[in-house]
Amino acid sequence: MTRVAGPNAELIGRDLSIAPLDTPALILDLDRFESNVATAAATARQHGVHLRPHAKTHKCIEVARRQIRAGALGISVASVREAEKLGVDGIPSILLTAPIASERKASRLANIARRGIELICAVGTLENVSMLGAAARAAGCTIGIVVDLDIGMGRTGAACPRDALAVARHAATVEGILLRGLQAYSGLIQHIGNYEQRAGVYRGQLRHLHEAIGMFKEVGLTLDMITGGGTGTMAVDFVHGPITDHQAGSYVFMDRQYSAVTLSPDARGLHFDNSLFLRSTVVSRSHPGKVTVDAGTKALALESPPPAPVHLANAEYSYFGDEHGLLTGTDLPFLGAAVDLIPAHCDTAVNLHDFLHIVRGSMLVDIWPIDARGTL
Ligand SMILES: Cc1ncc(COP(=O)(O)O)c(C=O)c1O
Repeated sequence: MTRVAGPNAELIGRDLSIAPLDTPALILDLDRFESNVATAAATARQHGVHLRPHAKTHKCIEVARRQIRAGALGISVASVREAEKLGVDGIPSILLTAPIASERKASRLANIARRGIELICAVGTLENVSMLGAAARAAGCTIGIVVDLDIGMGRTGAACPRDALAVARHAATVEGILLRGLQAYSGLIQHIGNYEQRAGVYRGQLRHLHEAIGMFKEVGLTLDMITGGGTGTMAVDFVHGPITDHQAGSYVFMDRQYSAVTLSPDARGLHFDNSLFLRSTVVSRSHPGKVTVDAGTKALALESPPPAPVHLANAEYSYFGDEHGLLTGTDLPFLGAAVDLIPAHCDTAVNLHDFLHIVRGSMLVDIWPIDARGTL
């Protein structure tokens, strides 16, 4: 069942209904979105890799359900909030990829597992395992864990394969905990533009993961799944392993940051189209060479490179305040004209909005709530 809401709901299904949309509004091009979902699913299947797409990108139940209908085993999430909001019918399995450090959050997670949804949490410390185990026992459920290994980012996870092994050995003894395997995610390298350079750095980092896998196997620890990867490393992961459960997220929408990234070594290889746009309106045209649109930092996060205007070859966008953006250049649009912008980063743009406006051609065909927007 699709829920609709917001001031644009009355336009759904009308001819040319994209034109009068109230802005700033996030638009999802349905044809492109469907093609991105299908491409990822088919490529993963072809290489025998499972998808657990990261829902931190879209925070939307409808998107998650469509990814699962296309073949994903479940979804990944980055926060307890996302797990709670997206843990609904049609989502069989949730993988929390970020650590928690409080008993209250552990018991919120146990409550999700108690509802019959498979819950797997990435953990990097012995304390974290014990905390989740206590919450699982109190709730009368089981929580799966993958041991998070830091392979070079230095953000979260066990610092080295030996520490990961110690966490796994502990997990194997804690009642309420089911050890599933390993997680290794390298974030900062995902946006290295050149494929060979990115793949080279990443393969170097993956040596730590291979070492940890060897140690787990040597002592007979469970390795049902080895999870990690983003859109930038999909091509490497799919072809070379050892990731079995892939967490790519941005591929559904893409963004300006990913526009500069060559995803595959082959020019005709893996490719995803921009499907997410922020529709804005020109609200002022008082000075030559510039116009103001109604999309500032409350509609698009302040990240680099800035959002890119679509179909305006000679214009550049820059942030111009909370409610406004500046377009400079030539051939600028008239007062009241709609301007579509490719967000700098899809995840942070989505988190600022309540709705995705679903567009097929020039018609608004649906509105999907961004169910898990927010942080707590
Ligand atoms: C742990 C983890 N896995 C997967 C992803 C998905 O990466 P991408 O959006 O580049 O596909 C992210 C994104 O930040 C992440 O933090």
